[in-house]
Amino acid sequence: MRLIFLGPPGSGKGTQSKRLGQTLRIPQLSTGDLLRSTVRSGSELGRKARGYMDAGKLVPDELVIQLILDRMHHEDCHDGFILDGFPRTRVQAEALDKALKGKRILIDAVLDFDINPEVLVERLTGRRVCPNGHGEWHIKFHAPKVGGFCDVCHALLIQREDDQEDRIKTRMAMYRKDTEPLKQFYSAQGLLKTISAEGNVADITRQLEAALKGLPKAAAGAPK
Ligand code: AP5
Repeated sequence: MRLIFLGPPGSGKGTQSKRLGQTLRIPQLSTGDLLRSTVRSGSELGRKARGYMDAGKLVPDELVIQLILDRMHHEDCHDGFILDGFPRTRVQAEALDKALKGKRILIDAVLDFDINPEVLVERLTGRRVCPNGHGEWHIKFHAPKVGGFCDVCHALLIQREDDQEDRIKTRMAMYRKDTEPLKQFYSAQGLLKTISAEGNVADITRQLEAALKGLPKAAAGAPK
């Protein structure tokens, strides 16, 4: 199963792709997570990406495309993957199409997370993350076991720089301008399936699973 999750910041792409990835036994490939780990590594690419990310802007296409295509070459992607947060621009979508066609691989579905923008601000401003990359929590919806501390390494949880309200506005504007038009791009290919991303986490997972049932196994016959 090869899936793309499309949706505005805070719509739950990360939460749901991790859950579904475990059920389907395929990796969740998040460009946000890959970029944050590159920033933590202190590499040249990380230094370049950080300024864009902290400002809530998109990292330039050429940096992200290379990063995700390299990741997709790993052995664990052989039988499928969930792309979380990629592609986000028309240039990225076309680069992905080209790379997959070269390998004779097809995307099975693009899941579009539909959500009221007002819900997003509460989700994002309440998010807290582990500074060592061990995960994320929410002060109201998914609290850590000991208030304010990482369940795994016990470090003090922090707020993502881009989860400040002014940065959230920038991210939403970038989403509307660059990413939302991809709905039309994938709808024209017959791949788009819209789900309601409001409500509790388990109900949304059930909706996703229902949307995937009965999918034509587009990739099943394609050579790997
Ligand atoms: P990224 O990390 O991908 O950020 P994003 O798309 O803005 O996504 P989020 O992680 O904020 O939201 P999400 O939809 O995954 O929701 P989540 O499940 O986490 O990217 C960060 C930055 O990296 C970008 O701004 C850009 O600079 C750069 N970047 C990344 N990809 C790029 C690309 N392709 N091109 C260029 N630049 C790129 O949930 C959010 C919160 O809500 C959590 O606290 C969660 O616990 C809570 N929550 C989730 N579901 C529910 C629910 N049902 N009910 C209540 N709370 C919920």
